[in-house]
Order: sequence, then C-alpha cells, then structure tokens
Amino acid sequence: MNNNLEIAKLVLPQVRDAKPYAGVDPPEVLAERVGIAKEKIVKLNGNENLYGPSPKVAEALAEYGAYHIYPDPRQTKLRRVLAEYAGTQDERVVAGAGSDEIIDLILRLFVGLGDEVISFAPGFEMYSTFTDLIGGSMVSIPLDETFDVDFDKVRAVVDKGKTKVIFLTLPNNPTGNLFSEDTVRSLLDLGVMVVVDEAYYEFSKTTVMNLVPNYANLIILRTFSKWAGLAGLRLGYGVMDPYVAERMLVIKPPYNISIAAELAFYATIEDKEAQLLKVDKIVSERDSLFTALQRIAGLVPIPSHANFILCRIQNGNGLQVYEELAKRGVFVRHYNNQYLRDYIRVSVGLPEGNSILVQALKEIL
Ligand SMILES: Cc1ncc(COP(=O)(O)O)c(C=O)c1O
Repeated sequence: MNNNLEIAKLVLPQVRDAKPYAGVDPPEVLAERVGIAKEKIVKLNGNENLYGPSPKVAEALAEYGAYHIYPDPRQTKLRRVLAEYAGTQDERVVAGAGSDEIIDLILRLFVGLGDEVISFAPGFEMYSTFTDLIGGSMVSIPLDETFDVDFDKVRAVVDKGKTKVIFLTLPNNPTGNLFSEDTVRSLLDLGVMVVVDEAYYEFSKTTVMNLVPNYANLIILRTFSKWAGLAGLRLGYGVMDPYVAERMLVIKPPYNISIAAELAFYATIEDKEAQLLKVDKIVSERDSLFTALQRIAGLVPIPSHANFILCRIQNGNGLQVYEELAKRGVFVRHYNNQYLRDYIRVSVGLPEGNSILVQALKEIL
C-alpha cells in the first residue's frame, strides 16, 4: 500500500479529522519567521518564566552519572517529594510529562467514544484537542461577561449518563480570573469527574487542594512549567483519589518522566525559596505592566491572578495588533476564535521585554 488515500482509511476517523493544537513556537522559529536575530525576540506568548529555572538544575543535570538506566515506572521518590511539596499523600499523586500528559491520561481513564466533556470558553484549548482525539465530544460553555461560570448553563447541559469530565482552570487561562470554591463545590456535586487545573497556582496562591480528601471525583493539576521555569523539561502532576491514581499509573507509559526532568525537579525543590522569589518578582512586574497597559489608549487589560494579562483591543482586531507586534520581534498570543478575536494575551516577561512591549503597543495603537 503506497497511496495516501488508502492509508488514510486505516487511520481512526477522529484522528483523520483532528486539528493540531496551536502550540507556541520557540525563539529560533519566531526569529526566522520575521527575519530578526533570535536574541532580539521578545517572547511573551507561552507564559514561561523568563528568569529561568534554579541554577541548581544545570548543576544537578551535569553531575548525574546514570542516564543509561531507565527511570522508576512507579515514580516512587518523585511522587513522595511531589506530595510533600503539594501538601498531600504520595498515593494521590501521579507525575506526567507536563500537565498536558495528565489531561490526556484523565480523558483516557474516563471518556469513551461519544462521551461528553465540559469546558468553559474562553479557556485552555488543550482539553478539547485531547477530547477530540479520543472520540469524545467537547461541550464548551461560554463564561459570562465577567468571565465567571454561569452555573445554570452547566446544569442545562450536564447529562448524567454522557458527561464524564468537567475542566475548570484556576486561575483561568487566558482570562486570568479566579473562580470561587463554591463554584468548584457545585460542579463536584454534579457527580462527574471535575478537573481543577491549577497550572498558575504559585502565582495566584489560590487552590482547592483542601477539597481533595472529601471528593473522590476531584483531580487537581499542577505544573513545573510556569513558576519553576521547567517548561522545556516537561513535568506536571495530578492530585486525586488514590484509586484513580492507581488506575492512572497502570495506563501511563512506564517511563514517562525522564531522569532529567526528575533531577531538575529535586533541584528546584531544594532551591524552592529562591525560585519563589522570582515568582514574587513576576507578580510585582505583572502589576506594573498592568498599570502601563491601562495607560495605553485603545487597550483594556483584564486584571489577572496569573503570569499573563489578557488585553482587549478597543478598535480593531487582535490579529492585526499581533502581526504588528511580531514585525517588531514581540510575540504575544492571539486566538482566532469567536470569544477572543478582539484580544491579545501577553505573558509577563523580564522588565526590559515588558517595556519593549509597552513601547511597541503605544506605536501601534
Ligand atoms: C491552564 C493550563 N494547563 C496546562 C498547561 C500545560 O502545561 P504543561 O504541559 O507545560 O505542564 C498550560 C500551559 O500553557 C496551561 O495554561
């Protein structure tokens, strides 16, 4: 068989029709696209920590001498140290190659062909990408005008037989706002799996981790990509009911966490205080950036509890502003969907990059 049409028939229908997740490109790809030196690129599109990881990470990676041995498939030490960091028990924790992998594992645990998954819009699009890939059906519920959950809308679409998982992002990406614990409890009381994605927890300091012991249907997601500066090494984790964790360990690839990611994690934990000081700097820089953005006529920044700020462009569409910024080597996020056409999302970078962004926006608007 050597023809594409023939081979395509063998691919699962939901995969044949799948659209790729629009991920963020690295600086060298962006640099080539706009013909600007890589060093000049201001990368504010991925909510990464531009202060980088703890210097202890590189030391730990350089010192280690057994990369030829596979990692522990049961993640014994990794789960213990993660549990200590998160304030929970080892048997509730599973680590993934980024929290993205845990999202995929959750869907594979609970969602079959034709089952429904609920998420909120505007929101993080990876939930629907993975749902589509396994043949599930994503039901996207619009947030209200203050970007809060309208619970009546949730009640109206939840189908106890068909709905398997609800995703809520706390604080929400890309809007940056929080949801109340009451909202989380109301979702939990629907009796389906509820995933609260706390990818930006270290910036918001807001969590519903306290609810985990009381709700077997709650899963919390966290990551080391954002606060810890380890996006390139891939480490995230889920905290959940011990039975669910055990089943997840069964379906995950045995060696999903590289030794490099694991070592980087221990080094980060040893140097936690210093790394969290960088988080404080980003939070205070976010507040200064917010004020500077507020002063730009035609731009309305939305208050944020994370390391990014969503901004509404009053006259004109977000894509134009995105493209004008890109020409100047400044890369932010623009989403081509009905909710966010008039918006851009800017990650909080280093002070110099943030100033370049503000200057460029003043020129453009
Ligand atoms: C809300 C949310 N969840 C999960 C992720 C995935 O993070 P990672 O796979 O790097 O842990 C992101 C990254 O942008 C995110 O914004």
